[in-house]
Amino acid sequence: MQVLVIGSGYVGLVAAAGFAEAGHQVIGIDVDSAKVDLLNKGKSPIYEPGLEDLLARHLASGAIKFSTKLRDGIETADAAFICVGTPQSEDGSADLQYVLACADEIGSAVAELRPADAHPLIVVDKSTVPVGTAIKVTATIRAKTDKAFEVVSNPEFLREGTAIDDFLYPDRVVIGCNTDFAESVMRALYEPHMQAARQKNPNGGRWFRMDPQSSELTKYAANAMLATRISFINEMANLCETVGADIDFVKEGIGSDHRIGPYFLNPGPGFGGSCFPKDLQALLKIGRENGLPLMSLNATVEANRHQKQVLSRKVCRYYNIQPDTPFPLSGKRMAVWGLAFKAHTDDIRETTAIDLIKNLLNMGADVVAHDFEAMPNIKQVFSDKIQYADRPVDACQNADALLICTEWPDYGKIDLKQIGSVMKTRVMFDGRNLFRPEDMKASGWTYISIGRTPVYSD
Ligand SMILES: NC(=O)c1ccc[n+]([C@@H]2O[C@H](COP(=O)([O-])OP(=O)(O)OC[C@H]3O[C@@H](n4cnc5c(N)ncnc54)[C@H](O)[C@@H]3O)[C@@H](O)[C@H]2O)c1
Repeated sequence: MQVLVIGSGYVGLVAAAGFAEAGHQVIGIDVDSAKVDLLNKGKSPIYEPGLEDLLARHLASGAIKFSTKLRDGIETADAAFICVGTPQSEDGSADLQYVLACADEIGSAVAELRPADAHPLIVVDKSTVPVGTAIKVTATIRAKTDKAFEVVSNPEFLREGTAIDDFLYPDRVVIGCNTDFAESVMRALYEPHMQAARQKNPNGGRWFRMDPQSSELTKYAANAMLATRISFINEMANLCETVGADIDFVKEGIGSDHRIGPYFLNPGPGFGGSCFPKDLQALLKIGRENGLPLMSLNATVEANRHQKQVLSRKVCRYYNIQPDTPFPLSGKRMAVWGLAFKAHTDDIRETTAIDLIKNLLNMGADVVAHDFEAMPNIKQVFSDKIQYADRPVDACQNADALLICTEWPDYGKIDLKQIGSVMKTRVMFDGRNLFRPEDMKASGWTYISIGRTPVYSD
């Protein structure tokens, strides 16, 4: 089948590569010509494990190419996927300007280039969009053309860091459409992925057809549920610290209940990323617009706002910093490991590390940062306000303390003896619980983690 994928970011590139891998002919579109040039040379503008290899393979085979012109391929395309950003507007709602700009352009291109007797073009909203967007996209395209098309909602559930596998072997595909024809096109597009997913896991590759509104809401509801679990476990972790309990035990104790399950129960320094924060705000806005304040979701957002300061609070407590003390960390060198909002990505959107580094700078600290993939992105935020280290150990040279924000597995495997030997003082604030307090105590560290009793060097 022939597929247009509009928007070559985290979602669009994975979808483009994923559809090419399934044997379809793909044109990836982006308004950013520098990005398109890079892509046509086989280079990925983002870090996502496995993506560059897959793109290079399908560029070489001719199954995929990139262009700035949406009209390339519209004449014969079976489907056009809209994968552009839906950032947060000032009032919290999802900003649909990029989605509707695509719809407008699709409408003009269909009017001009598609034969009158062509089968309906399936226009797919893959961006995360509020309930009712399929109707708006339909109206926008219809304003430009009388030719046949149908708008389908197909939210994307991939996770950055494992996006390729998530796309090639989906747990489920959700389709919101109004006709059997639209469903049949979507089924044909996804059939190779569904089969592969079912082979991998008998419970994988499930297909859900529903109306577009339900499909649009499913995506927000999924993210809201996941974020709620994170805020819940973070609050339990904070309570553990206060009452002398251990979140690791509590997590195991509740996660073994099959009604709860073990996933998304890791306490941390608050969630960030390109999706949860904005999607929660968009869902809250949908609730308000419909006279339904989503109270549990409000609490999730508030709890996360509080949690994003958890490492800064721990630093203040440890150094006994009183409010209003000017530059209380002046002269202290703080190493920060992990800048991406989670492991296996270079994405720093809404990452807790940015809040933490700003706090440390405001308190007068010298900050040295390290990440395995996100350094170029973080440099654009802090430029020469902080220092950057090529290796984790370099960040710790002469440091008074080490703070961990991202759960890159390689941090957990590091030789802490070596790290401790280059630091001024062996003090660690671990926002991801990568180490065991008893081991840290035994090797002479002061170790302050989340939801567990701190240990102090003698
Ligand atoms: N990143 C994720 O993990 C993820 C997961 C699921 C869903 N989503 C949703 O998918 C959508 C895209 O997210 P993303 O992270 O890929 O965004 P992104 O910012 O990485 O990519 C968007 C791309 O669209 C391009 N673009 C903007 N307007 C365009 C236009 N008119 N024509 C062609 N290209 C255009 C931009 O240049 C950019 O390259 C969002 O709605 C997001 O909420 C994201």
